[in-house]
Amino acid sequence: MQYVDAHGAHIPQIGIGTMTLTGDAGTTAIKTALEVGYRHLDTAAHYGNEKENGEALRASGVSRADVFITTKVRPTDAMPDAFARVVDQSLANLQLPFVDLLLIHWPSKEVPLALTVGALCKAKRDGKTKHIGVSNFTTALLDEAWKVTTEPLVCNQIECHPFINQDKVIAASQARGMAVVAYVPIARGKIPGDEALGRIGKAHGKSAAQVSLRYLVERGMVPIPRSTNREHLKENLDVFDFKLSAAEMAELKALNATNLRVVNPPHAPVWDTP
Ligand SMILES: NC(=O)c1ccc[n+]([C@@H]2O[C@H](COP(=O)([O-])OP(=O)(O)OC[C@H]3O[C@@H](n4cnc5c(N)ncnc54)[C@H](OP(=O)(O)O)[C@@H]3O)[C@@H](O)[C@H]2O)c1
Repeated sequence: MQYVDAHGAHIPQIGIGTMTLTGDAGTTAIKTALEVGYRHLDTAAHYGNEKENGEALRASGVSRADVFITTKVRPTDAMPDAFARVVDQSLANLQLPFVDLLLIHWPSKEVPLALTVGALCKAKRDGKTKHIGVSNFTTALLDEAWKVTTEPLVCNQIECHPFINQDKVIAASQARGMAVVAYVPIARGKIPGDEALGRIGKAHGKSAAQVSLRYLVERGMVPIPRSTNREHLKENLDVFDFKLSAAEMAELKALNATNLRVVNPPHAPVWDTP
């Protein structure tokens, strides 16, 4: 496993995204991920599976200290009182005294950002999380957040895969020393059938999904692919033993023009233009 370091956080460079991994099947998938070597779990209050993440961790026998656990607070809980309450609920669900990383899941359009960032910093000061960060923040929102935060923001978790151009927000995040955690890194299943990624993968004895993950890793990002399939879980971790050539990276970069944004709910901010 490789790691990305950001403001004191030591983040395993591949994590498992656990959205939709609920109930017994979810616990089994997360436990399988830990068994095959994942050491980074990405959950959220919104996913309704913090309990499953905690259960899978305990059932796996892997030491808590070896696993990097992220959870997130919904924009509907952006006011400080609600924020503090739901963080306590998340920890109770996980049955843990603290997480490694706590994120503002989406910026709120109603609550001033300074209030939510204040609550995020307080959660860190209170020992409920080792590190704090944001998700779905644009360059403008990053500027605003860094103006009001009293603690370093270690990551910006955003959509990233070869079919979207996120250059501006990646550059703005990395310039501040933040890790860019790439969600939907295999475009929610659209990568595996792609001709170019398949062809590039074949040249390295790898799959299209592995090429997408490798492209993100080579750009310094932290992809968090989801899978319920043991073979896919293993495959998605196995991206550290090959290197894409400059020409291959350029071909993948050109696919950014596809302009596919998989995650774009009504409460999304006004995104940076490519
Ligand atoms: N911060 C945010 O707002 C936000 C938003 C969306 C997502 N996320 C996070 O990002 C994580 C990942 O996103 P996602 O789960 O939506 O999409 P994803 O990881 O891009 O794609 C998941 C899909 O790809 C398939 N897959 C995985 N590995 C594969 C492989 N090696 N070969 C072929 N197919 C493969 C999976 O099917 P199988 O199960 O059959 O393998 C599943 O259908 C989420 O789980 C969540 O933790 C965060």
